[in-house]
Amino acid sequence: MTQKARYTAAVESAIDKLHEEGRYRTFIDIERHRGQFPHAMWRRPDGTETEITVWCGNDYLGMGQHPVVLAAMHEALEATGAGSGGTRNISGTTVYHKRLEAELADLHRKEAALIFTSAYIANDATLSTLPKLLPGLIIYSDELNHASMIEGIRRNGGAKRVFRHNDVEHLRELLAADDPAAPKLIAFESIYSMDGDFGPIEAICDLADEFDALTYIDEVHAVGMYGPRGAGVAERDGLMGRIDIINGTLAKAYGVMGGYIASSAKMCDAIRSYAPGFIFTTSLPPAVAAGAAASVRHLKTDQDLRDKQQRHARILKARLKAMGLPIIDHGSHIVPVIVGDPVHCKQLSDMLLEDFGVYVQPINFPTVPRGTERLRFTPSPVHSPEMLDGLVRAMDNLWSQCALNRQELTA
Ligand SMILES: Cc1ncc(COP(=O)(O)O)c(C=O)c1O
Repeated sequence: MTQKARYTAAVESAIDKLHEEGRYRTFIDIERHRGQFPHAMWRRPDGTETEITVWCGNDYLGMGQHPVVLAAMHEALEATGAGSGGTRNISGTTVYHKRLEAELADLHRKEAALIFTSAYIANDATLSTLPKLLPGLIIYSDELNHASMIEGIRRNGGAKRVFRHNDVEHLRELLAADDPAAPKLIAFESIYSMDGDFGPIEAICDLADEFDALTYIDEVHAVGMYGPRGAGVAERDGLMGRIDIINGTLAKAYGVMGGYIASSAKMCDAIRSYAPGFIFTTSLPPAVAAGAAASVRHLKTDQDLRDKQQRHARILKARLKAMGLPIIDHGSHIVPVIVGDPVHCKQLSDMLLEDFGVYVQPINFPTVPRGTERLRFTPSPVHSPEMLDGLVRAMDNLWSQCALNRQELTA
């Protein structure tokens, strides 16, 4: 075998392994139509099309088609053209980027904000840069933190301690075991998106005060959605001022694209100046920045949209629960139904799509632990009562057809 053939065989075997474990990922091609979302067209590989309802998107509030957002994007596109044409340092900073950062700083009541091309990059770039700014930094990280945080912490060259999920006693033990003089940072999320459970923000802030640690929160699944101005769970709970660095996305509830941190002016300045993931990459297109800023601004006041989304999530959970389906309910907007097997999970998702026009992607390892494979539904204000009825009927039907367990899980 030649060396090249060996490379190909190794790549093939990695893919085969995924097939064998039932967790090979297939992307389905969908075409969204403005004004019709969550309806979309599913294009099969053979060219045939079916109308479907998207139940697993993270455009939680339908802002991806909101007139205010689209108008801002059109305006900026007409005014400036397509791309930004450079990194932030080399011609890629426009008035749109500056306005978006000002909007975000105001949202979180921080001195400054810094935008990145995604929240993944914002987490990775910030967390991998902090030890350069704070030599000897120890990062305490929740074991269920998102891959972007894990990745940033893993390769930052600093020390890390992983605490059991949401276990503040374990976190306390780890903090107490380290040198009191060492710089420390606690990194966690406000909503863990696969179970929809909340991080213990207040207890973590109390520990941070006690041990002189900085706090870093990922509010990716909460910004736009919680708090009187949509700044997240920390805002809802009156804790935003106790968080040193807030991370968020512009791609989920805000319906556009991009990520950011909000913090002190000095912290943002330092990350801006030292983080390769910020420095060496082209900035967001101005039209994207304009759309995101319009969305953030709009959601500072549109409480109705947030309320409607929460209502739809509550209704869906109540109806699935009433049928004895194993849902996880921590009171957030996310509705996970546990299947517990990757092959069944994929089959159910395929049947929902083929037989009922319901699109919900199976969630398998490594996104969730093995044995907890699930269907994760994200009802939005633009899902109608009829769509909800259709989904509930489809799930009831499939659960019976496949003779699946109706034992209830409680949070
Ligand atoms: C908790 C968490 N943080 C960060 C991200 C990354 O966000 P983005 O899609 O803006 O890169 C995600 C994406 O799903 C996430 O779930």
